Amino acid sequence: MYFGEKVRLRAIEMSDLPHIMKHWNTYETRKFLLSAVPYSENAERKWLEEVTTASPWKDGIVVFAVEDKRTGQFLGTVTLDRINPQNRRAELGIALHDPANLGKGYGTDTVRVMLWFGYHVLGLHTIFLITMTCNARAIRAYEKAGFKRAGLLRHAMFSQGKFQDVFIMDTVFDEFAAVHPGDRQIGSPT
Ligand SMILES: CC(C)(COP(=O)(O)OP(=O)(O)OC[C@H]1O[C@@H](n2cnc3c(N)ncnc32)[C@H](O)[C@@H]1OP(=O)(O)O)[C@@H](O)C(=O)NCCC(=O)NCCS
Repeated sequence: MYFGEKVRLRAIEMSDLPHIMKHWNTYETRKFLLSAVPYSENAERKWLEEVTTASPWKDGIVVFAVEDKRTGQFLGTVTLDRINPQNRRAELGIALHDPANLGKGYGTDTVRVMLWFGYHVLGLHTIFLITMTCNARAIRAYEKAGFKRAGLLRHAMFSQGKFQDVFIMDTVFDEFAAVHPGDRQIGSPT
């Protein structure tokens, strides 16, 4: 398990299915993601079957459940996907599910811990993400966690009734490790 100031990241389990189904289809959360089409419980179960047995190097993906460190509440998931062993690069994705938990610092903390894991456990060299330019809360959280804007793709996603521009944002190992070295985690277990 990996610890931040507020969150704990742990392996996602099949038993997380009910936690996921509770808020995952909330439009307020999903409108900033690749698709806001609702997921059925069956589809989510099949996704869980895949990711609970995936290997970062063989399958190119690792998914963690995000929990509130103090209460143990399930908050959402964070992912490193498209893990590329030659370039030692991956794409970060995050979704906190319940709108009531947004804007409370969980996301910034989670992203920092996932970067720490990606750089200091997996040995990655760069980690990037894409986010709609209208997702001001996400951009602010990513910048606080160390991401920089690397480029812009015009009209790359259709969401909320229109084509949206997206930022490509990235971090590199040296910059992250200068602030968060590998010999201590972001936060303590308690
Ligand atoms: C994106 C996400 C992970 C960010 O996590 P979070 O816990 O909500 O964000 P944090 O509280 O850590 O940080 C948000 C920052 O943005 C600010 N903020 C919040 N709402 C904002 C808004 N509407 N406009 C601008 N800034 C905003 C907050 O004040 C905070 O900055 P501050 O600490 O300087 O005050 C989370 O909101 C989420 O999962 N959203 C739904 C799905 C999603 O958008 N995923 C990302 C897709 S790329």
